[in-house]
Amino acid sequence: MNKLAVIGTGYVGLVTGICLASCGHHVTCMDVDESKIDQISRGDLPLFEPGLQELHETCTAAGSLSYTTSPEEAVQDAEAVFIAVGTPPRKDGSADLSYLHAAVHDIAPFIQRNTVLIIKSTVPAGTHADIKDQLDRTTGQSVQVVSNPEFLREGSAVNDFFYGDRIVIGSTDPRAAAFVEHIYESLPAPVLHTDPQTAEMIKYSSNAFLAAKISFINEMASLCEAEGADITIVAAGMGMDKRIGESFLRAGIGYGGSCFPKDTAALLYSAQQKKLPVPLLSSIHEVNRKQPGAFIQKILDRFGSIEGKKAAVLGLTFKPNTDDLRQSPSRDVINLLTSEGAMVIGYDPLISKSRKRIWQIPLAETMEEALTGADLAVICTEWKEIVDFPPDRYPSLMKEANIFDGRNCYAIKQALHLPIYYSSVGRPVYK
Ligand code: NAD
Ligand code: UGA
Repeated sequence: MNKLAVIGTGYVGLVTGICLASCGHHVTCMDVDESKIDQISRGDLPLFEPGLQELHETCTAAGSLSYTTSPEEAVQDAEAVFIAVGTPPRKDGSADLSYLHAAVHDIAPFIQRNTVLIIKSTVPAGTHADIKDQLDRTTGQSVQVVSNPEFLREGSAVNDFFYGDRIVIGSTDPRAAAFVEHIYESLPAPVLHTDPQTAEMIKYSSNAFLAAKISFINEMASLCEAEGADITIVAAGMGMDKRIGESFLRAGIGYGGSCFPKDTAALLYSAQQKKLPVPLLSSIHEVNRKQPGAFIQKILDRFGSIEGKKAAVLGLTFKPNTDDLRQSPSRDVINLLTSEGAMVIGYDPLISKSRKRIWQIPLAETMEEALTGADLAVICTEWKEIVDFPPDRYPSLMKEANIFDGRNCYAIKQALHLPIYYSSVGRPVYK
């Protein structure tokens, strides 16, 4: 058991802190956001992640997990400090590292000799060296800085922590690297040791590759539409080739979330700074940017004009099983629908529970309420509740059952013999 601190209690920090505590470590999580720490202290986590609340309750009851806003309290006798603060995009696409530097500044006075600083936040190659310089200068000692990028997915983050595909440890110091490996020793994932800049690049390259798979399949989906083919079967057929793999080949309205858009942009920015041509990287982003507009075009092609039509947008989060709305493609879809004059009502299985309005549109409390009297339904997130919703209920609730499915939730066969117009992504339209 080790004494650990985690700085930043967002999606990554909170999951890391709670899961490390449930591995038997003694963990103090720290955040500058007092309202977050207050909320957690009242027993209520500020974000939704399946399984996390239960682990938090078990670990706090066992006394192995605590929360604070004080850097001193978190760091003073920690053997390792994980940094998991945000690295959001700047306007030019570069990663904004100001939160990282501010966090390092705040904790530096309390760093002890031998404390290892572990960077979990996603940062451009070379950042570990700048952080080490900053720490060495302010502490007057040589602090070990290890790059340990995070690969969890929102919505399955707890499972990804315990059963991840790999743990990457980037360090120039074998003792620091061995210590970080020891922290994770109860996990079955294979460990890859490397230098810090390679670890930083593994993180960006992995996200860029996954984003590339999605943009690739979305481009193939457009071709399938033109050829009358079915992208879901094309993807299944491609995925049967082990070299290709079946995952991340779901066509849709594009990737969102706080990471793929920002990480591909940051990588592109780094390449441009170094005057390296990276046409593939630019295309990943470009294909994704066009997805919501191309989807709305199908709606306009069907109706001519949607001025005054009632549009029910189903699913608002950037993916199911999360409450995260950052960079959600649903927002672009809503903006486009609104700009075409549609009256939009939203529904999301999680967001509708806590909010009545979002992004200037009203939210329905149930999917049925959103659909009642609607001229069109637009599916943006494949929540289970939406996938399980029987297609024959659409015509009974809607004024006219026009379904535009941006996530291919229904098998086209399910629509057969129903009085609906069903347009999805990369598949023939059913009418
Ligand atoms: P987040 O925005 O959810 O959380 C960041 C937290 O850091 C916030 O609670 C904020 O208040 C806190 N913070 C900011 N400055 C601070 C400071 N000086 N001291 C203490 N706390 C401070 O971010 P996130 O989604 O958890 O992402 C964190 C990092 O992890 C990013 O670099 C991201 O790219 C990377 N990452 C995210 C995911 C994901 O699924 N969200 C997965 C892998 C990697
Ligand atoms: C992604 C990566 O999967 C994680 O490994 C990584 O740690 C994380 O980014 C990060 O760096 O933050 P996440 O953004 O939580 O995780 O979610 P994903 O499941 O990757 O989905 C991202 C977006 O891609 C969603 O909008 C999803 O709808 C879309 N997607 C995903 C598709 O359109 N098609 C697919 O086949 C898969």
